[in-house]
Amino acid sequence: LNQENINFMSARDTFVDNLMSKMSIAEKIGQMTQLDITTLTSPNTITINETTLAYYAKTYYIGSYLNSPVSGGLAGDIHHINSSVWLDMINTIQNIVMEGSPNKIPMIYGLDSVHGANYVHKATLFPHNTGLAATFNTEHATTAAQITSKDTVAVGIPWVFAPVLGIGVQPLWARIYETFGEDPYVASMMGAAAVRGFQGGNNSFDTPINAPSAVCTAKHYFGYSDPTSGKDRTAAWIPERMLRRYFLPSFAEAITGAGAGTIMINSGEVNGVPMHTSYKYLTEVLRGELQFEGVAVTDWQDIEKLVYFHHTAGSAEEAIMQALDAGIDMSMVPLDLSFPVILAEMVAAGTVPESRLDLSVRRILNLKYALGLFDNPYPNPNAAIVDTIGQVSDREAAAATAEESITLLQNKNNILPLNSNTVKNILLTGPSADSIRNLNGGWSVHWQGAYEDSEFPFGTSILTGLREITNDTDDFNIQYTIGHEIGVPTNQTSIDEAVELAQSSDVVVVVIGELPEAETPGDIYDLSMDPNEVLLLEQLVATGKPVVLILVEARPRILPPALVYSCAAVLMAYLPGSEGGKPIANILMGNVNPSGRLPLTYPGTTGDIGVPYYHKYSENGVTNPLFQFGDGLSYTVFNYT
Ligand code: GLC
Repeated sequence: LNQENINFMSARDTFVDNLMSKMSIAEKIGQMTQLDITTLTSPNTITINETTLAYYAKTYYIGSYLNSPVSGGLAGDIHHINSSVWLDMINTIQNIVMEGSPNKIPMIYGLDSVHGANYVHKATLFPHNTGLAATFNTEHATTAAQITSKDTVAVGIPWVFAPVLGIGVQPLWARIYETFGEDPYVASMMGAAAVRGFQGGNNSFDTPINAPSAVCTAKHYFGYSDPTSGKDRTAAWIPERMLRRYFLPSFAEAITGAGAGTIMINSGEVNGVPMHTSYKYLTEVLRGELQFEGVAVTDWQDIEKLVYFHHTAGSAEEAIMQALDAGIDMSMVPLDLSFPVILAEMVAAGTVPESRLDLSVRRILNLKYALGLFDNPYPNPNAAIVDTIGQVSDREAAAATAEESITLLQNKNNILPLNSNTVKNILLTGPSADSIRNLNGGWSVHWQGAYEDSEFPFGTSILTGLREITNDTDDFNIQYTIGHEIGVPTNQTSIDEAVELAQSSDVVVVVIGELPEAETPGDIYDLSMDPNEVLLLEQLVATGKPVVLILVEARPRILPPALVYSCAAVLMAYLPGSEGGKPIANILMGNVNPSGRLPLTYPGTTGDIGVPYYHKYSENGVTNPLFQFGDGLSYTVFNYT
């Protein structure tokens, strides 16, 4: 700490001490309460019911709002929100909150900007975190976070619910693509780089966080990423030594190394204990060992879920007591007023001392102070920032990240890069060959991803990228057919069309993988690739033409190893974002030398999951895992233009 920090903290503490001395119990409880925007809007609209908001403001002094997609609210079912609409809404909410606040305490709004400001229209969409990690280059994590913060702050929102710091060892898990892969060191370095990008450097509230930086959220603390069943929000059984060796370091680095301002708590259970009730991890470890001074916010409805999901509490009151005793600061209630109403009764009854409220309220007010919300509660319609949303340089940064993430895993006889001396007729096929929607995955326009490409104001599919690169020469003839659409019954006619075109091609590039998904709706029971996509690949390989397999997927879906080995080349593209199509095309054509490396294990059979669990073995020419952490090739022969 230097003198500047000490002066800042001294001024902050004086301000907060004074403010807290004037606050009522109800105001303090209001600061600990976060509601979803859909408590203020009618379904699928973004019109704020100002009467409801004023009631919440004057009666419960609600201190925070969010719009999580689960409630089918703004981000869930309504397309990208224009920056002007966001700004109007945030201004409206803040105006009424401040009017209702006896001590003029501004509200803080939080948003899931997880790979760019994915709910802000025109914002640049980066590769999801497994792709970021595949670059093994922390600069990309910092740049992506800086631009994500800028585009979120530009619409008046100073709190981003990112980065995910879970360790991606369970490939079945619907959210593995939100992690920086399976290695604690990689996740620690990439995560801390992201925290610095979001917050404009180290923080932990000892210096201001000035626009266009935002306060970030190290989530989901912790052990959430390894559900034994692979299903989201189900029990994780992780020995203490493993917890500390694999699952805690990325949070420790984000907090102690980069000063993450908030953490969001794991919705699940670890070793039979819901994290929201764990005094050991939420207080002894988080506050004691890691010296975290920021705000611990629950995840969605996680206090009431102690009653109806985890069954550790017999009533809402018991659940609130368990969570407060464990060490939560703010409840993401977020769909009703249960938390403030019941907590007020508990304080009145003397079961919760005011001093417990003060512990959390101080942290929350410190957060708002560090963000300058008391001086500037209203979004600064700083055109200079708003106008930069989606600027070319941001999109070029996203393309550069995608470029460095693409991982070449197999390249027989240097079939890649495609060379006009040996290849003229290229067939591009597969369900993600011409899909920007699939390149982006979940948390894109909508929680579960976009419904169609037209919802993206920007973006380049692999097909478009390939045509752009080759159209100025007649060296190559590009043909395209989808071959198979994911999620529909087998369509042999469509597959036959692809096989027919393959016969007259010199090389077949097939792009398969997954549809967009997020969280529990994305749960699967089997890691195997969609059998129809396997069928398409098998029938294309059977033509005898060289096949280049490109995987666009959230999870390393399993393919028959022998089939993969029979492909001429294999590229893992992860979820490269809207700007990912052209980088993939540039790598295919040799304009870029691939440099990505696998940040997670690519299993060869269901059941074999990431380090530290798998055991590499080979039998009958098949090795398991199919590809290992750190695998990745570069071209030794290339025709850079
Ligand atoms: C969701 C997610 C969390 C997100 C929060 C708010 O359920 O678990 O990552 O930040 O709710 O949308």
